[in-house]
Amino acid sequence: MWLRILFTLALTISLAEATALGNIVKSLKRELSFGTILLLRNENDADSCWTREDLPQDIPILNLNANQSLYLKQIFNSEILSIVCLNRSEGDTMEALYRNLEDIRYTPTILMTQSDTNLSALFEDCRYHKMLNVLALKDFDPEFVYSYRAFPHLQMVKRRVSHIRRYFEPQLRNMQGARINALPDNIMPRTVVYRDAQGRRQMTGYLAHLTENFASTLNATMNICWEYAPEEDVINKTAMVKLSNDGFVDFPLVIAGPDDFRYRDIIVMEISSWFLILPTEANTPRARLFSKTEAYKLMPLIILLALVLSYAQRLEEGLGPSVSLGSVWEYVLHGVLAQPLLLPHGPSSRIIYVYGLLFFASMLSCSIFNVSLETWLVHPPVDRMILSFQDMRLEQRKILLYRTEYFTIQNMFGEENFEKIRDIFEITNSSKYFQMMRGSMNPSYAYPITTTLWPLLQLGQSRLTRPIFRRSKEMIFDPLVLMTLPLPKDSIYRQAFTHFHLRTHDSGLYTLWFRRTFKELLVMGMMSYPVDNSSEPYKDLVWGDFIFVWMLYVGGIVASLLVFLVEIFYFKWNQNTTNN
Ligand SMILES: *[C@@H]1O[C@H](CO)[C@@H](O)[C@H](O)[C@H]1NC(C)=O
Ligand SMILES: *[C@@H]1O[C@H](CO)[C@@H](O)[C@H](O)[C@H]1NC(C)=O
Ligand SMILES: *[C@@H]1O[C@H](CO)[C@@H](O)[C@H](O)[C@H]1NC(C)=O
Ligand SMILES: *[C@@H]1O[C@H](CO)[C@@H](O)[C@H](O)[C@H]1NC(C)=O
Ligand SMILES: *[C@@H]1O[C@H](CO)[C@@H](O)[C@H](O)[C@H]1NC(C)=O
Ligand SMILES: *[C@@H]1O[C@H](CO)[C@@H](O)[C@H](O)[C@H]1NC(C)=O
Ligand SMILES: *[C@@H]1O[C@H](CO)[C@@H](O)[C@H](O)[C@H]1NC(C)=O
Ligand SMILES: *[C@@H]1O[C@H](CO)[C@@H](O)[C@H](O)[C@H]1NC(C)=O
Repeated sequence: MWLRILFTLALTISLAEATALGNIVKSLKRELSFGTILLLRNENDADSCWTREDLPQDIPILNLNANQSLYLKQIFNSEILSIVCLNRSEGDTMEALYRNLEDIRYTPTILMTQSDTNLSALFEDCRYHKMLNVLALKDFDPEFVYSYRAFPHLQMVKRRVSHIRRYFEPQLRNMQGARINALPDNIMPRTVVYRDAQGRRQMTGYLAHLTENFASTLNATMNICWEYAPEEDVINKTAMVKLSNDGFVDFPLVIAGPDDFRYRDIIVMEISSWFLILPTEANTPRARLFSKTEAYKLMPLIILLALVLSYAQRLEEGLGPSVSLGSVWEYVLHGVLAQPLLLPHGPSSRIIYVYGLLFFASMLSCSIFNVSLETWLVHPPVDRMILSFQDMRLEQRKILLYRTEYFTIQNMFGEENFEKIRDIFEITNSSKYFQMMRGSMNPSYAYPITTTLWPLLQLGQSRLTRPIFRRSKEMIFDPLVLMTLPLPKDSIYRQAFTHFHLRTHDSGLYTLWFRRTFKELLVMGMMSYPVDNSSEPYKDLVWGDFIFVWMLYVGGIVASLLVFLVEIFYFKWNQNTTNN
């Protein structure tokens, strides 16, 4: 009799438990969107924590034991609900769970535990392994589910199943002022570290604004790990990534090409390119512009017009065709140079038509000349454009490089090609010096730059009539660089941060913070509107500008004088010979 009662009791309990899990899974199907169920248990645990009836029939089930571990994110999918049966060897099973959920630790998980399991220790372990979405069921307690609140302090929550609206409450929605640790890399303009008037260390830069706002949307406080941040220099990237993977830093505020971080947890922040900026080349001196007018190109037109006109005139007079060098040339020359001329008396309508053509040609050539002259005087062309590294070498220009970039560029070119142009690179060991030179657009060097800083320098040059630095379209180190932020492995902020970052891009906040950074750097004196000392932006015409014209003029007069003298001597000589 007692035995029967006990047996019935045991049966009810096990049934009740089964339905508890079944009910929860059924509710979770409405709450979450999972496409797979992962069942994980130790091989040694003979009886199982679940029956087939607990699980929905229409969803694929992965049944693993604690010895198996797969990189599920890559080989399967990441929309998983995992159910874990914990028994004696619970350590092993949890380890197996962590291995299987690598990079998808946010997966909702139900832990089936025994009545004597220390749940707070278990939850602490889950928290340490970045698993926030965890429910625990106790063997003999089907009425309650256990979960934990991770922020601001770890706290176990016991809930009655019948009262639950939502099993997995988002932990990150309100972090109740918990701290998020960030570490700035001190690369302008993303993050800039400085000391304020009271000597306290401060951080600004658009990445700083981004993370500060991110923290405030989670109701968290941002804590900057000053103890790891160097006072002046840029932080070592390797050291930074190590700190974040060891759990000291939640957000390493560094953005770099993906080659710098050889692992998967990166977030693409910007699409950029890496190119050279160089001091704008000098304009062609005004005097030299006259030698560039290419007026000789008008010669065929002049000859053609002169031929047509003279031929038409001879026909009119009833003469045969012949090339004559009469007054016609003068007419045509005057016409093409847009000078006034007197029409010959009473020409016929055919001749008038040819003069009309002359008039039209004169208008055309004059306008073309006028327009190009004006363009040259207002936007003079560059004298000798630098189009390649070889050009830079000929012009004795140098490129300033920060040490780490030097090796990257060396690898990019290959040893042999690089050897040919090695002497145009000048290397500095101080990132501060490099950033200062580049930020102030010191024209002694050309600098490699990405599309992150270049817009700021362009903003700086907006007050100049003529930019002092230009972006090279020919000398590009890398046309497409994905600028990424490396989050620590399995970061709990990954999803929230990705969404937040995309929203700031879409709403234009990212650009706003970017522009605001420029103003802040101006105020701090780290950037300035550069002054163009090299040449006066506006200059009146001076005598020297017409040097070629004067030379032609004087040369013409001297030549005429010589011809005149030769004519006189020839005349005299002729007279003498006839007299003799
Ligand atoms: C699981 O691994 C343990 C230790 O590595 C081993 O003793 C055991 O036999 C393995 N079980 C199975 C089913 O492979
Ligand atoms: C846990 O293991 C013990 C002994 O191996 C077994 O009797 C018990 O039924 C198991 N419990 C579960 C829930 O699997
Ligand atoms: C459970 O684990 C926590 C933390 O590991 C510990 O403080 C507590 O004493 C443990 N409780 C029991 C009953 O062992
Ligand atoms: C944000 O966190 C603070 C604790 O730092 C808390 O007092 C406050 O209620 C939280 N805000 C909201 C909206 O929950
Ligand atoms: C960065 O730090 C690592 C060790 O933390 C060191 O091996 C490496 O040489 C450092 N790199 C630079 C550029 O200083
Ligand atoms: C040349 O252009 C200027 C400015 O556009 C204009 O004022 C001037 O009349 C033009 N001269 C001739 C000859 O077309
Ligand atoms: C930079 O540092 C390296 C070694 O750290 C040294 O060999 C080199 O001379 C230094 N260069 C300059 C310009 O100081
Ligand atoms: C340009 O001139 C200003 C003063 O007129 C001076 O402060 C600045 O240093 C000069 N810049 C360069 C690059 O020489």
